[in-house]
Amino acid sequence: MTFRLLFWLWWLVPAWCCAGCRGGSEPEQQVDASRYPERIAFGSCSREYQDNQLWDEILANEPETWIWLGDNIYGDSEDMAVLAEKYRQQKSRPAYQKILQSMPVYGIWDDHDYGVNDGDKNYPMKRQSKELLLDFLDVPAEADVRAREGAYQYYLLGEGAGLISLILLDTRYFRDELQTDPDGNTRYLPNADGDILGEAQWRWLEGILQGNPAPVTIIGSSIQVIPEEQGFEKWGNFPAARQRLLSLIERYGKGRVLILSGDRHIAEISKLELGERRFPVYEFTSSGLTHTWGGIREEPNMHRISQLHIARNFGIIRLDWNTSPPGIQLEIRGEGNRLFESVTVPD
Ligand SMILES: [Fe+2]
Repeated sequence: MTFRLLFWLWWLVPAWCCAGCRGGSEPEQQVDASRYPERIAFGSCSREYQDNQLWDEILANEPETWIWLGDNIYGDSEDMAVLAEKYRQQKSRPAYQKILQSMPVYGIWDDHDYGVNDGDKNYPMKRQSKELLLDFLDVPAEADVRAREGAYQYYLLGEGAGLISLILLDTRYFRDELQTDPDGNTRYLPNADGDILGEAQWRWLEGILQGNPAPVTIIGSSIQVIPEEQGFEKWGNFPAARQRLLSLIERYGKGRVLILSGDRHIAEISKLELGERRFPVYEFTSSGLTHTWGGIREEPNMHRISQLHIARNFGIIRLDWNTSPPGIQLEIRGEGNRLFESVTVPD
């Protein structure tokens, strides 16, 4: 073996090994914006067959980025031709085309676009459905997410000191079964040992948080993380997984950490303070673009720091990079671009 060959082995092996140890937690893409990101829009729960999609209202806010938080279509089928046609219908809508032409679009799925209501790891078409989701989002063929199991993704938005880490978690592909309540008192009982992310995604997430270069971190999770009392789908149905996620944020969290969620057909903002250092984490839930609850109901949420909004809505995140850590304004908006509520972080 020549000295030259030994030199290249010394150089290449650690580089390959470190990428593996990070669980492939490199960003899919760094979007090198010409300035720091100032306005991010997001939303969820959009029936592809309905015309009232709020796209004009979203565009009126001149966002620089759009993020889908799941139920991006109501696919609900094991027939991939059905899902593909519904994605086509959603994507070809002229107002959505304006979004695509104006800004980068990112996203993750929830249950209905995954293919089955309250779906989990047992959905038999998950590999095929994932490709349709990534095609809908125009994720490049060479992106890491195309080569691995699951649809979780990581992006860096902005540049220099104005970076945002955008982490999109897959809460479907690896998720264990929900535990239904045989007495029917509530929809689901906690699945004490059940997991949501699966080990590969946990390792990937920890690698990102550990080496996170950004003062602002946005974690997209289709289902709610912080709210505990509601009886529908939530991280609280898998208490060990919820605690694991919060512990990772507590351990590595810095600057501002904001969770985005959808799924619920309501809007609300929640807050938790983690651990002895009382590290604050916020969750902005915005759902849905096309439909909401039929009547006015109350829903307890001890962590809510906003009002509960029962109306079609989308979210706008406004960032102020003049302070350290950056200031964030969370706006819940709806039809006619009406501002339902604005919450300042820190509150
Ligand atoms: Fe959902």
